[in-house]
Amino acid sequence: MSPPTSAGRFGEFGGRYVPESLVPACAALEAAFRDAWADPAFHEQLARLRTEFAGRPTALTPALNLSAQLGVTLLLKREDLAHTGSHKINNVLGQALLARRMGKARLIAETGAGQHGVATATAAALFGMRATVYMGERDIARQELNVFRMELLGAEVIPVTSGSRTLKDATNEAMRAWVGAVDEAHFCLGSVGGPHPYPWLVRELQRVIGEEARAQVPAVPDVVVACVGGGSNAAGTFAGFADTTARLIGVEAAGGAAMTNGAPGVVHGYRSMVLQDTDGQVLEAESIAAGLDYPGIGPEHAHLGAIGRAEYRTVTDEEVLTAVRRLARSEGIICALESAHAVAWVLRAAGTPDLPTGSTVLLTLSGRGDKDMATLAGVAR
Ligand SMILES: Cc1ncc(COP(=O)(O)O)c(C=O)c1O
Repeated sequence: MSPPTSAGRFGEFGGRYVPESLVPACAALEAAFRDAWADPAFHEQLARLRTEFAGRPTALTPALNLSAQLGVTLLLKREDLAHTGSHKINNVLGQALLARRMGKARLIAETGAGQHGVATATAAALFGMRATVYMGERDIARQELNVFRMELLGAEVIPVTSGSRTLKDATNEAMRAWVGAVDEAHFCLGSVGGPHPYPWLVRELQRVIGEEARAQVPAVPDVVVACVGGGSNAAGTFAGFADTTARLIGVEAAGGAAMTNGAPGVVHGYRSMVLQDTDGQVLEAESIAAGLDYPGIGPEHAHLGAIGRAEYRTVTDEEVLTAVRRLARSEGIICALESAHAVAWVLRAAGTPDLPTGSTVLLTLSGRGDKDMATLAGVAR
């Protein structure tokens, strides 16, 4: 996976569709990122934070029981074991370092499942910065535990009451807040969406997932699979295998399937595949997993799909609930509802032409299921 063009494009997707007031901020961020990424001292600081604070490298766990049951070799990349419980910490530690380098005293973030908000609150506490996290009211209700965590870490959580009261609306509000505070605040975006340079910057910060996994697997797997909301854990995983023969598969929520059911359009400052009506109005997504309840997808995924390098599939909420239970009972791992989308695809595809018996599969478990206990207690017993 190569860098985007100078205009921030991956093929026809990406770019920078922002109000004039944000153009200098995006340009300054791009310049700071290029400068930091070329600086060995920055990489040294990031590497130290990853090992000493975040607990990397995360394990690669062979799912021995499920593998025997399904007739495929299933290897799990355990981002659920990273500090704060998901891959989101990889991105946030890098962006917080960058923000500090840019002299910013405050982080503004959007969050759906709350994992990105928790990671942002964590980094802000560590670096002595203020954190303001925008979160839809509906997500606040279903991810209450993560709201408590953010507040305990000292972040301010601002409920968003507009639209579907989920991630799309939280992102709108966070971007609006950034416009008003652009001199003092860094917008710590949680996925591979948003205006250039975010999709590139976040993919580079998540690349550690794929690179570690590549070094840990005994051989290049036949299939690499990860769930896709905005697509950051998938992009980071794919980055380690894009130059191999492995098939790359992103799994979307059936109710939030921008790749599968969307059309090219602009949302949140970038051009990509977007769920929209015939007038181009962005549609509401709907998924049991708050982190996949989003109508867009990172522009690089749209590009990888368009050129046929990656494939995208959808699974239903019911398949996801079955997958959480099956992984828990077979392997002793309770994963996040988001991550369970990837597991659900493996359960469905194993032994079919999509995933023939004998295949080797690397699957990124993007996060742990603690945050989803209230949802699971309500439906999965
Ligand atoms: C555990 C987990 N996995 C996946 C996602 C989806 O994000 P992305 O597609 O950017 O990896 C989220 C988002 O909140 C999450 O919390």
